[in-house]
Formats: sequence, C-alpha cells, structure tokens
Amino acid sequence: PTPTPAWRPLVHFTPRQHWINDPNGLVQVGEVYHLFYQHNPQGRDHANMSWGHATSRDLLGWQEHDVALPGREAHAIFSGSAVVDTHNTSGLGQSGDASPPVVALYTGAGHYWQAQYLAYSRDAGETWQFGPEQPVLDEGRADFRDPKVFWHGPSGRWVKAVVYPDERQVALYGSPDLHVWTPLSVFGPAGETGGIWEVPDLFPLTDETGQEHWVLKVDVFAGGPQGGTGAQYFVGDFDGAVFTPRGPARWADYGKDFYAAITWSGTPGRCLWTAWQSSWDYATRLPTHPWRGALTLARELGLRRDPDGGLWLTQLPLQELDRLRGRRTPLHLTPDSPATLPLPAGRALDLDLRLAPGTVLTLRLTSVAGDELTLRADRAGGTLTLERPARGLLADVAGFGGVHTAPLPPAIERDLDLRLVLDTSSVELFAGGGLLALSDLLFPAAAPDTLRLSVDGGGATGEAWTLRPAVPSPG
Ligand code: FRU
Repeated sequence: PTPTPAWRPLVHFTPRQHWINDPNGLVQVGEVYHLFYQHNPQGRDHANMSWGHATSRDLLGWQEHDVALPGREAHAIFSGSAVVDTHNTSGLGQSGDASPPVVALYTGAGHYWQAQYLAYSRDAGETWQFGPEQPVLDEGRADFRDPKVFWHGPSGRWVKAVVYPDERQVALYGSPDLHVWTPLSVFGPAGETGGIWEVPDLFPLTDETGQEHWVLKVDVFAGGPQGGTGAQYFVGDFDGAVFTPRGPARWADYGKDFYAAITWSGTPGRCLWTAWQSSWDYATRLPTHPWRGALTLARELGLRRDPDGGLWLTQLPLQELDRLRGRRTPLHLTPDSPATLPLPAGRALDLDLRLAPGTVLTLRLTSVAGDELTLRADRAGGTLTLERPARGLLADVAGFGGVHTAPLPPAIERDLDLRLVLDTSSVELFAGGGLLALSDLLFPAAAPDTLRLSVDGGGATGEAWTLRPAVPSPG
C-alpha cells in the first residue's frame, strides 16, 4: 500500500506504524503520562497483541518507546490498566528503588481461555517485566477480560472491574495487594445488551455541588447509537463492594468512533479518559498506512445534574489543547452574514461557537477533490447531524458512510456552546458544556481547504483557532 501521510493526525495519537486498538494502562507517574495500547508490532491487522508504549508531558505530544509487554507464546496480551502502588502493597518494589512500583493488570488471552495477569515496572513506568507465571485471577472462562483497577480509600483496598462479555456483566473484585483477588459483586445485564460487553471502568466524579457519585462505563459490541460498537454509562453509588445505578444507561459518545475508553490513573484534581477512535465495524479496513488506528483526545470529565435530578456525564477536550492554538479568527454569524474561512495546510482546527436560541447552524467543509462534510446544529429541532460520506477507498467499507444524528442537549445558559476539533482524519464535537460528545473518523481525498458557516434564524458568535501539530515537550 502507498503511505498516507496526509491522514496522519496532528493532535491525536497514532503509532509510527502498524495496528493500534484500545488504550491500556493509562497512568500518570510524576510529571509523565504513560500511554500503553493494544498493538501489533508487526503489521496493520489485529494480531500478535502486545502493549505498545508512549509517554508525554502534556497528553498531546507523544514519544513512542519499545513495546512494553510483547505478546507471549502462551497467550496474547489483551487490554488492562495500570496504577502507581504508592505504598508498595504488592511487595514488587525493593528497598533502594527510587520510586514505587507501577503495576499493570492485563488479560492473557489464550485459545478459548482468558485470565488476568500482572506486570510491573520498578523505574517509574519506563521498563516492564512480567509478574508470576500464574494468572492473578482465573475462573476457567473462555471470555473474561479488560481489568480496570483503582484504589478505594474508604475500604482500604484495590478494586478491579472485569467483564464477562457474553453474560453482559461487569464483575468487581477486591484485593489488599494486587495479587490476591476476591469477588465483591456482579453488575448487569443492564442498559444495552444486544452485543457483548467489553472494557469496563468504574470511577468517582463530583457534580457541580461537590457531591460524589460513581460512573460505571462499559462498551457494547453492537447496538451503539449509530449502529455497531458504542460506549454506555450508568451513574450511581458504589459502597466499596456493590455498584447501584441511580438512572438509565446513557451513551458516552454519539459518533461511530469512540470505543474502549478508560480513565487515567493518578491525575490529581482532574478526571480524564481517552478512547480508541475507531469502530470494530470497519477498524481492520481503514485505509491509512503505515499505521492503522488512532486514539481520541484525552477528555476532561465532569457530572451535571438536570432539573429532575438526573445525572449526566460531561466531556470536554483537555485544557492543554489551548496551548496549541495559533491564529484566531473571530466569527459573528447572522442569517445575512455567513462566513467563509480558508483552512491552512498542516494545521488542525479548533472551533468554539455560541448559538443563540432558534439557530440552525450549517457548517460545510470542502476540499479541491470534491470532499464535503456537513454538520448541522438545529437548536429548534434539538438535533446535531453529521453527514459522513463514504467516497473513494471507503465506498465499499460497510458502516462507514452515514448520517449521524444526536440529541442536542438543552442550553445551560441562553446560548448553546458548540466546540469542534478537526484533525486531518477525524472530528470531535462537544455541545452543551460537554453534555454531548461525538467522535467520527474522516478520510477526505484531499485536505479540506474551506470552511463555510451559515445560520438560519438566530445567530452565532465565537472563534476559530488554528492548532499547531503536537510535538513531545522536552525534559
Ligand atoms: C476491545 C477489545 C477488548 C480486548 C482487546 C483485544 O476493543 O476487544 O475486549 O481486550 O480489544 O485487542
């Protein structure tokens, strides 16, 4: 295949070459963010599964390292998580070590058999070794995966969420030392159960009044908001053993390309997650070379309460993205004055708009090659619609082309905010203070060079920023 440098994202993570799927082991150690990911070190298909490794100081510019956990003879290395074991509960740290051990829990995936294993680093996440030969949690199951671990202060132990995919269940376990795990409870089936469940996460978030709640996120392999894979979440309580939902299942993202998100461990004062920016519907057929697959931006998470007491997840692009902003163009749109913006080559775009009541905004991105992407935000109708055409190489990729519609959230203030981050091969959209998120891949035949904005009724103001390509910061 011919290399496709024009589709190499500028502000999203991709491996230099070969396949990537789920983000794994997301952990901040000191000043450094360690990203691991499902990776085939040998090719662009889902095989030889290993943990790739990259580090960053701003979650935007990444430096790729040697594979941290290479696939083994007996089993592939599937998804999992990592934590800093500050008090050396695992005993894996040794006296004289300059830093506490960083411990990863991952799924060993063999033939009709999956179990949870441990690996660790004694040098703050730089180099890794496999733990004991024996799994730390094995129930003799064919499908049992994606351990997500966190420290639960009130009960003074580690808690781990793992899925029973076929049963559409998330099983919770507790441990004093990350080695010995005892069952706590099982959640599900609940919400969307048409497809198997994968990649659970359970984490606390505070609402705007400062009250703490727990979010359980679990992905579905089918039945997502645009068909195919998707991410659903429940908000509720967790007493250290049992998660109890206090509301219906909701979609974390309304695009096609948001899957396997997990939260970052060890990020004081903020909660962030990163997802694989693809869909199992067509992930193995994406036309990029020499890499295949990308991750979403890290998103800052929050919770908001609606007037009826319902709790909703909010997601916004990480604050660090602002540092990449370059040229700013102010925008004042009325029905009589649309705007046309040239898009400079080699830059991503960050658009921030506030839509007055009754506004129907149409945003059109075009290229010399005839590409056209249309986004419509209809405050009157309450919908956000992205038309993603499938042309050229994507034309025969089932599930790629389509019209993705999402419910526009009610405005928190009079105007509704809409944020769009456009990269070379994706768009991430956020509306209503992040109550709505939508991530979609795009593969235009030529880079879009013109952005047209117009409104019917109402009006919109805001600004467009060019975004410099992310580069690893030194030190
Ligand atoms: C989700 C997933 C996980 C699994 C991994 C394998 O995309 O299927 O359930 O651990 O990918 O690569």
